[in-house]
Amino acid sequence: MALLRLRNTKGPNAAEIERKIKRGNALRQGSSWRGSRGLLALLLVALCASMVAAWLYLASLDGDITETLASRREMISPQPRVYSVQCSEDYENYKRYPGCTPQKCGRAVTDGVVTSEEAQALRRLAERGLALAGSEGGASILDLHSGALSMGKQFVNIYRYFGEQIADVFTEEDFKLYRDVRGRIQAVIAETFGLDRTLMYLTKPTFFSRINSTAAKTQHDEYWHPHIDKETYGSFDYTSLLYLSDYGSDFTGGRFVFMDQNGNRTVEPRAGRVSFFSSGSENLHRVEKVTWGTRYAITVSFTCDPSHAISDPSLP
Ligand SMILES: *[C@@H]1O[C@H](CO)[C@@H](O)[C@H](O)[C@H]1NC(C)=O
Ligand SMILES: *[C@@H]1O[C@H](CO)[C@@H](O)[C@H](O)[C@H]1NC(C)=O
Repeated sequence: MALLRLRNTKGPNAAEIERKIKRGNALRQGSSWRGSRGLLALLLVALCASMVAAWLYLASLDGDITETLASRREMISPQPRVYSVQCSEDYENYKRYPGCTPQKCGRAVTDGVVTSEEAQALRRLAERGLALAGSEGGASILDLHSGALSMGKQFVNIYRYFGEQIADVFTEEDFKLYRDVRGRIQAVIAETFGLDRTLMYLTKPTFFSRINSTAAKTQHDEYWHPHIDKETYGSFDYTSLLYLSDYGSDFTGGRFVFMDQNGNRTVEPRAGRVSFFSSGSENLHRVEKVTWGTRYAITVSFTCDPSHAISDPSLP
């Protein structure tokens, strides 16, 4: 109100003066474009544009990763770090097994189940086994249960292919450690999700993996695609991963990524770290491409369906 009154008191002359001032401003601006100030303004615009471009570039690099659930440097022990997520409807398409079928869903990480010495021993086991062959592409697997081992573009059965010689590669002690560790993983999953551990069963595929940065040669080498374990494997109800090497020092890339609607959440591998989760579409995930070094891990899978149970491996 006060302002309005002030304007009204200016009268016609005031309006005339205002017009002149504006015209003067416009003329000065026009000439400044041709002068050094124009150059400065141009530079400023260019600078702003490149800053926006750089920001967009950085955002696109970083945009994939929104949260780190477990970093390599920290030690999550003795209790697992648990993140609950709402169960998807996937389980409704399957028979329900009380005491096992997920009622609670989520994901968890623990460094308190497998010691780094045990992880080292298992890694040496994986190294020895995978040294027998290996994929031409960057991703090789060794399944001690079925005997499947990547070889070139396909698989062989180590127990058939190497016969009794396999006893020179693996010892009874190796198998005992493997059984022991899988039992502890089963126990922590049961405890975390409130299950009866005697009603959950090891299922296939359960295998060692070795990944490096070599380009894929077949589809088997393409581990990085987003997927849902229950859709991919059907029998899976709980998936776990035991890492045998360290993100950042043994390899780069290769982080595990939960892909949620509102962001991506990563687990950084660490030798001896176990991460586990319910296998339905509430846990869509992928593994980043390994960019350097070699990443070793074991995938240990569990089902609630006794008809899909497999037994622990043992030397033939
Ligand atoms: C990756 O592993 C394969 C064997 O699976 C090997 O042939 C290749 O040389 C390795 N690549 C690197 C970069 O170490
Ligand atoms: C998660 O990462 C993928 C690529 O890995 C990206 O396409 C997607 O936009 C990311 N999701 C969110 C919500 O940021």
